[in-house]
Amino acid sequence: MFLGVDIGTTSVKALVVEEEGRIVASFSRPLQVYAPDGLSREQNPLDWQEAVLSLLQQVSEQYRIVSIGLTGQMHSLVLLDKQDLPVRHSILWCDQRTTKACRELTEILGGEAEVIRRVGNPFFEGFTLPKIQWVKTKERENYEKTRSILLPKDYIGFVLTGEKGTDPSDASGTGAFGFTTDQWDEELLALCEIDSSLFPKVTASGSLRGFLRKDLSNRFGWENVRVVTGGADNAVAALGAGINEPGLGMVSVGTSGTVVVATQSPKPDPSGRVHYFNHALPRIHYYMGVMLSATHSLDWFLNRFGKKGSWSELETAISNSEPGSRGLLFLPYLNGERTPYRNADAKGVLFGITSSHTEGDAYRSIIEGISFGLRDSYELIKTLTPIRRLRIVGGGAKNKTWVRIIASNLSMPLEIPKTDQGAAYGAAMLAAVGAGHSEKEILRWVQVEETVDPHLEWEKTYQESFLGYQKLYSTLKEMFSLYPPQA
Ligand code: XUL
Repeated sequence: MFLGVDIGTTSVKALVVEEEGRIVASFSRPLQVYAPDGLSREQNPLDWQEAVLSLLQQVSEQYRIVSIGLTGQMHSLVLLDKQDLPVRHSILWCDQRTTKACRELTEILGGEAEVIRRVGNPFFEGFTLPKIQWVKTKERENYEKTRSILLPKDYIGFVLTGEKGTDPSDASGTGAFGFTTDQWDEELLALCEIDSSLFPKVTASGSLRGFLRKDLSNRFGWENVRVVTGGADNAVAALGAGINEPGLGMVSVGTSGTVVVATQSPKPDPSGRVHYFNHALPRIHYYMGVMLSATHSLDWFLNRFGKKGSWSELETAISNSEPGSRGLLFLPYLNGERTPYRNADAKGVLFGITSSHTEGDAYRSIIEGISFGLRDSYELIKTLTPIRRLRIVGGGAKNKTWVRIIASNLSMPLEIPKTDQGAAYGAAMLAAVGAGHSEKEILRWVQVEETVDPHLEWEKTYQESFLGYQKLYSTLKEMFSLYPPQA
């Protein structure tokens, strides 16, 4: 059996998968996020460690594992001291305290165009390098104690094997990795006065990190278990959905939403609105648009104002409305927005309400607004690289009407894979690669269950509503900055 382990933000998940890709069992442990203030989001690496070790214990009671593949949240910063203990809590990808640090680093490097030229992206608050800069200026003592810098899945790789390292897909999310050289950008680090020896070696996602430590092997009753380097959750989730070559893409409609498209283009987005990272497969990159509140917007609305019904009830309610939600427009910026606006002040809006609107119109407009947000990313990526085929995953993909709304917005059929287990499944695929299986063999694990086509009439309606949606944001943009987010 192979084991895929995903160090997520809300939980650690472990998926037991057998040789042909069939899922045998799934386990998880919840994680706590600490929010010391409105902008800060942290986790204790020792919590990840405890969760992973207790999951392995549980798995070992029933299964014999030959290889473990790792994946996890991108960007989150782990600092280790000279005894290899965490210096402080990890500062997470969703932490927003680093706006000033981003500005400082961009200035040091001579402007945003130069940053993009070097590392493929501008500095976002979530990225690792601004977090390091923040610790260096605000917690000098912690910075001075630091002997190595790791990412979440790599910290767990170290706990399991005693070996430090990372892979290109996670390294490319730090803001310190040269996308043309596939190496740490030593010159950039020197300019930022950050010691490059703090960073670990970089090896391919399917490479062996090491063997499970003897004491752990004895504890779990396993022998010669390989621990495979693995990759960033977005890249590995794409692999798990079978996105393995340029032109293939994935729309993920989870709490947050992403559009990921694999590419061989050597050019990042010059406007910096779309991310450009290394894939978990060699030689391929991907563009990614991130919307911060996808199903989160709908969940928020249903929890606060709606009935908490099943998907099929929701399906009926939205089918009773019509495409365009009879003039209602929803902006899904409940937590600001990353793509395309990079605007932390953006907010949610339900626009155009009259007394003739129904509950179904409101639900439908929220679902349409989230779909327009995904379309924003898709339209931007389309200008950067050809998109041949798209798959759709995540909670939103369970509602067929919603999938059709998205397909009609993108004017593209959407393929629904049989297995939708997120990054943990891709991590199990990498575990198999590390145990000697070929890329071709593991890609056979992924099969399409159903394809949903766009609806020709809806396409026309959405063309108009989408323009209205974009105009609504540009009209309100100034208002948003007058009302900064409340803690
Ligand atoms: C990607 C990002 C998130 C995290 C979540 O840039 O910040 O998707 O990877 O785990």
